[in-house]
Amino acid sequence: MALLDIQDLTVTIPGSTRYAPPVRLLDGVSLTLASGGTLGLVGESGCGKSLTALAILGLLPDGLRAEGAIRLDGEDLLTAGERRLCALRGRRVAMIFQEPMTALNPVRTIVDQVAEGPRRHLRLSRRAAREHARAVLHRVGLDPSRVSPDQYPHALSGGQRQRVVIAIAVACGPALLVADEPTTALDVATQARILDLVRDLVQGEGMALLMISHDLGVIAETARDMAVMYAGQVVEAGPTARVLAGPRHPYTSGLMAARPQRAGQPGAPLPAIPGAVPPPDARPPGCPFADRCARADTGCRTRPPLGTGPDHRHSVACHHPLEASP
Ligand SMILES: Nc1ncnc2c1ncn2[C@@H]1O[C@H](COP(=O)(O)OP(=O)(O)OP(=O)(O)O)[C@@H](O)[C@H]1O
Ligand code: SF4
Ligand SMILES: [Mg+2]
Repeated sequence: MALLDIQDLTVTIPGSTRYAPPVRLLDGVSLTLASGGTLGLVGESGCGKSLTALAILGLLPDGLRAEGAIRLDGEDLLTAGERRLCALRGRRVAMIFQEPMTALNPVRTIVDQVAEGPRRHLRLSRRAAREHARAVLHRVGLDPSRVSPDQYPHALSGGQRQRVVIAIAVACGPALLVADEPTTALDVATQARILDLVRDLVQGEGMALLMISHDLGVIAETARDMAVMYAGQVVEAGPTARVLAGPRHPYTSGLMAARPQRAGQPGAPLPAIPGAVPPPDARPPGCPFADRCARADTGCRTRPPLGTGPDHRHSVACHHPLEASP
């Protein structure tokens, strides 16, 4: 049984008028992740990556409605009550957010913030929870001789704050760690160190990782499997090495061509994908990528493509996919 099994997840907001139909922000997302596995979720801004993460944690903003199923260890989180979700959050599934400062409480010491989860979920005494928290802070690279656990977040660098956020997330040994753009707010050198830490923790502790990024390089470095999201849908999914060696969806291929390291001469413009992701309330009736796709024909503009693939492990939702790699 998969640790995380998302089936046909649809998230909607009410239409702009009383008679307008609901708008689909996520449209039939299906993903699976095995215990101890690593899955990368990639796509441009607004494609639905964070909403997918928030839905898993039961943290969707008010007014959004989720349908389908999100099973963790077989238990459907969409039908679990808030009390049950509170018991699971931090204990079985935890999340690292993009912006460390907003994830931390500025008026509490870092050790107290890390100790909070172990006190509640592991039922440790205040003293034992603080001891545990000190060990976790050390484990994420915050040596107490250099960064006192009794510091407040404002005294730390961005990279150190993100280590605290990671410490809070892993303090109770969750089975699933969801990392939503955990390095985007950091400089390049710090990004690499934080990614190393996440990889090391996931391997060392046997956690499963859902890594969310708009950067294919981050996905390639951290995830064995990947899924590409476009306009609220998964358009291609499979083993990362295989997808990157032979992308079959024109969107995946476009993302790969737009990577900075693929640029030609220094100063040459990146071959960006023309156009922009259509907003959820203005998606075309057929393939949502049709307006940006060089292969689009009339069928693409009228019929939504369904996910298919050369085998069940590499799926692509496209009427005219690129050739499968041998
Ligand atoms: N509370 C909300 N109400 C209405 N629309 C929303 C809400 N939250 C997100 N959306 C819309 O849902 C879509 C998906 O948003 P989401 O934040 O998941 O994108 P993303 O892939 O995480 O993008 P980014 O890379 O910028 O973080 C976007 O079009 C966004 O505008
Ligand atoms: S279905 Fe058509 S428009 Fe959509 S990605 Fe495939 S070829 Fe392009
Ligand atoms: Mg996001």
